[in-house]
Amino acid sequence: MAEFSEAELTDAVLERLAGTPDPRLRQVMSALVRHLHAFIREIEPSEAEWFQGIEFLTATGQKCDDKRQEFILLSDTLGVSMLVDAINHRKPSGATPSTVMGPFYVKNAPELPMGADIASMDVGPKARVSGKVTDAAGRPIAGAVLDVWQGDSTGKYDVQYAGLDGMRLRGRFRTGNDGRYDFVTSLPVSYPVPTDGPVGKMLTATGRHPMRPGHVHFIIGAPGYETLVTHIFPTGAEYLDSDAVFAVKHSLVTKFVPRAAGTNGPDYSASYDFSLEPSAQARQAAE
Ligand code: BEZ
Ligand code: FE
Repeated sequence: MAEFSEAELTDAVLERLAGTPDPRLRQVMSALVRHLHAFIREIEPSEAEWFQGIEFLTATGQKCDDKRQEFILLSDTLGVSMLVDAINHRKPSGATPSTVMGPFYVKNAPELPMGADIASMDVGPKARVSGKVTDAAGRPIAGAVLDVWQGDSTGKYDVQYAGLDGMRLRGRFRTGNDGRYDFVTSLPVSYPVPTDGPVGKMLTATGRHPMRPGHVHFIIGAPGYETLVTHIFPTGAEYLDSDAVFAVKHSLVTKFVPRAAGTNGPDYSASYDFSLEPSAQARQAAE
């Protein structure tokens, strides 16, 4: 009969995992057990505390449905999403950095002509956002698709309005030979990540605010290039220094310049050029 002391338990579990046929799964499971046991040994929870932890994770799962992913929010607010992002996108210098996707992306946004206003249903200040999609050498990329989404002037995404039919503040734009893109949107405003679930309770309990600085989301894809998931943030936006999901990168911050007095057009304009890195396949082919 096997009996394991407090000191022996970790090795006992690791030995049990040693026969896992898939080597990657063996590595992942073994690391999980080592770190989880080390965590428990460090905090020495009471049984009531451990049950509180299990209740928290249970509530996190129960909060998830087809519109809400509380586990992603937990990963975001604990900085894990940005760590996974950093590990997976060690970009060559000069390439536009990636950042979190967030939970509000919706596939199949309408394909719109350059210059379209994706915020025509919104009130509040407007911003024209334009620039180029290029390769590392600054050459324009034709046929790049910019999938854009954003919260409205009250800080809410369309999917956060119960019963709202159709999409708002979303669009896809395809570059021509000049690599340029151009659209009108709402001036981004700061907003809280969803706080009506266990993650909100965790933020409150740890004395943290839930706010994100205003931003515009992009997924930019082009044949032969790595797909880029990123945002741009307005210079001077509130919470740039304390984004609840740790997703700000300096080079993604850009000026939203107020319209000059006496001129027409959107209230602000921002210019931002995206530089894509070649896909692994394209890199291999070039070798
Ligand atoms: C967002 O930017 O949409 C977002 C990102 C992470 C968590 C919540 C919201
Ligand atoms: Fe967002």
